[in-house]
Amino acid sequence: MDSQVLVAYATKYGATAEIAEKIGQVLRQAGLPTDVLPVADVSDLTPYKAVVLGSAVYIGKWRKEAVKFLQANEKMLAERQVWLFSSGPAGEGDPVELTEGWRFPEAQQPLADRIRPRDIAVFHGVINMNKLNPIEKWMFKKFDSPVGDFRDWDAITVWATSIADDIKGAVS
Ligand SMILES: Cc1cc2nc3c(=O)[nH]c(=O)nc-3n(C[C@H](O)[C@H](O)[C@H](O)COP(=O)(O)O)c2cc1C
Repeated sequence: MDSQVLVAYATKYGATAEIAEKIGQVLRQAGLPTDVLPVADVSDLTPYKAVVLGSAVYIGKWRKEAVKFLQANEKMLAERQVWLFSSGPAGEGDPVELTEGWRFPEAQQPLADRIRPRDIAVFHGVINMNKLNPIEKWMFKKFDSPVGDFRDWDAITVWATSIADDIKGAVS
């Protein structure tokens, strides 16, 4: 199947997995056969003509397994249509403004430049105090950071729809 798409993700507490599932759902509804998998479960990119890769952000970094995936698959990714997303910022308002312009980890920017993604998106995340470990809980209490589910499903759907249009060649 030449229009097979992969949505690969790295998550710690599950919020990014649900964003990836949503993106996969939109792509499938647009008629594109799509796999949604944790990065650790992806063994071969050969069947895919397009890849969407997203990671949760912790202290300004992508999850290790997502970084490893980028490094291990640089060549294959550079030969495919690729979209990247970071998920994390908590609070209301533009997610990139919430993180003062942060979009993607600086350490992996040269790698991303070589892969030439068609876009890098940032989506709001979730802070669920019940899931955090004691140190994380302490941090969030100390800085009085916003807590809750801030994911913007409309923004995620719009982005996934634009990916589907791009893959299908409906948009230049
Ligand atoms: C200890 C900790 C550090 C975090 N650091 C960042 C950060 O630097 N930038 C950001 O945008 N979000 C940050 N977040 C928010 C997470 O990215 C957010 O909770 C995200 O939805 C987690 O996704 P996951 O459930 O897929 O792991 C942090 C969260 C925790 C608990």
